Amino acid sequence: MALIDYKTALVTGASSGIGEACVHRLSKHGIQVFASARRQEKLDALAAATGCQAVLLDVRDKTAIYDQLEDLQVDILINNAGLGRGFEALFEANPDDIETTLQTNVIGAAHVIRAVGNGMVKRNRGHIVNIGSVAGLYPISSSVYGSSKGAIHSLSQNLRLELRGTRVRVTEICPGRVATNFFNIAVDDPEKSANAFVGFEALQSDDIADAVLYALDTPWRVNIGTIELSPTEQTFGGMQITPAPE
Ligand SMILES: NC(=O)c1ccc[n+]([C@@H]2O[C@H](COP(=O)([O-])OP(=O)(O)OC[C@H]3O[C@@H](n4cnc5c(N)ncnc54)[C@H](OP(=O)(O)O)[C@@H]3O)[C@@H](O)[C@H]2O)c1
Repeated sequence: MALIDYKTALVTGASSGIGEACVHRLSKHGIQVFASARRQEKLDALAAATGCQAVLLDVRDKTAIYDQLEDLQVDILINNAGLGRGFEALFEANPDDIETTLQTNVIGAAHVIRAVGNGMVKRNRGHIVNIGSVAGLYPISSSVYGSSKGAIHSLSQNLRLELRGTRVRVTEICPGRVATNFFNIAVDDPEKSANAFVGFEALQSDDIADAVLYALDTPWRVNIGTIELSPTEQTFGGMQITPAPE
């Protein structure tokens, strides 16, 4: 069950950043990819570029998840849709943002896994890749986002136990800062979001797709549990950036 044995994949959050990079990479390997997100025009462009199949889906809509995904027979799930609204300290966060982030990153992710993972168990074949974050492993002064990714860490580890004895693999990818649209959506103040990338060279979406592909391409007996990757010049610890030494 290395990559060559996998035929189909579902990528959530495929309309930009890490998800989009994964769709490109998987398509190049001949995988039939179902690419899901909310923005139709982005998915249409991706379908034209890669041959993937667009699945318009809001992962906060439980009914739509089961209606649209339960019958998809995919070998790979890249569980990636997510955002960081309410990134500021908890007591400053907008209550609606707290809900949006937890609903999207945790509840949506769990329903997506349930919807497609059931078939993987029945077929005794599959690979669930959860896109977590260093924020799920270490405190970063962001209770809402951190707890959402902490939940993904716990979910990934518990899934591994629940799936023991099957040939369904579970991998959690925990990136540090990646140059995507993430901070433009997370933070309303453009100066603050731009500041997230000052003073160091950020990871690129392709770096994360490389890590995903590495985990997928190992022989079936190997389960890559967690991959943590961060920019060389930066590490976890919040929005503050410490300039690299001269
Ligand atoms: N960038 C970083 O520094 C970083 C670091 C660690 C982990 N991550 C994680 O990486 C994942 C991808 O983020 P990114 O950095 O690639 O950011 P991005 O470019 O903003 O992409 C986020 C994706 O999630 C989708 N999405 C958001 N809410 C959704 C919803 N309710 N239903 C369906 N899709 C939804 C967006 O699509 P639509 O808007 O079209 O729905 C988009 O495709 C996220 O889980 C994020 O937490 C990012």
